[in-house]
Amino acid sequence: MTPGIRPLIAGNWKMHGSLREAVRLAEALRGGVPGVDLLICPPNVHVHSVAVAMLGSRVAVGAQDCHAALQGAHTGDVSAAMLRDAGATHVILGHSERRANHAEDDTTVCGKTEAALAAGLIPIVCVGETEAERLAGHAESVVTRQLEGSIPYGFVTAGGIVAYEPVWAIGTGRTPTEEEVAAIHDTMREALVDRFGPAARTTRLLYGGSVKPANAAGIFALPDVDGALVGGASLVAADFLAIARAMPE
Ligand code: PGA
Repeated sequence: MTPGIRPLIAGNWKMHGSLREAVRLAEALRGGVPGVDLLICPPNVHVHSVAVAMLGSRVAVGAQDCHAALQGAHTGDVSAAMLRDAGATHVILGHSERRANHAEDDTTVCGKTEAALAAGLIPIVCVGETEAERLAGHAESVVTRQLEGSIPYGFVTAGGIVAYEPVWAIGTGRTPTEEEVAAIHDTMREALVDRFGPAARTTRLLYGGSVKPANAAGIFALPDVDGALVGGASLVAADFLAIARAMPE
């Protein structure tokens, strides 16, 4: 963790659960965890109901993607303003599943991030190398290039969040070593400070990829790891809360 930054544990529910299950899972988190901000990101179609269910709780609700345009002829898409209107405060952007399955490149992600900022949503921009890139020794350069291309001006002052998610660690049960996570987070911090100045010292940098109750404490003890973006384990309330409780006080 970084001194002075309030940690954030964010749950990425991906395309899981019925409306009833989403509301039930959210309600099980209602009490929150002292000293830690909790955020849950249900499927976009459930954002409004979950946000209503969480009114007056300590848990924020976010979305999983948005379109870059304000409005228009984009069948099936949802704008950042619509998500804000539905009760979202945050939106996950540039997740590797979007980059891989929807051919989103850094320019696309940057456009969506600008749209999120314009709508008053806090973007969580995801970056991370593939296994081949790590094996070739390119993890740091890939992450630096994605950060440079995916993050627009205004991001840091608006409280934008970055998540380092090595593609090969997502949903696999494998994680980088603590040294590898620390090295990438240090690289990200310095790249952001170089570009945005000292304000980027308080930008939250999350780690994501197979975070579980058993490995969370080790990851959270690392410098410049200010929380986690949790996929699979966020679908079990007890596991998500256990991960949040693993954050040092
Ligand atoms: P995982 O997913 O925790 O299931 O590995 C993380 C993510 O994709 O955000």
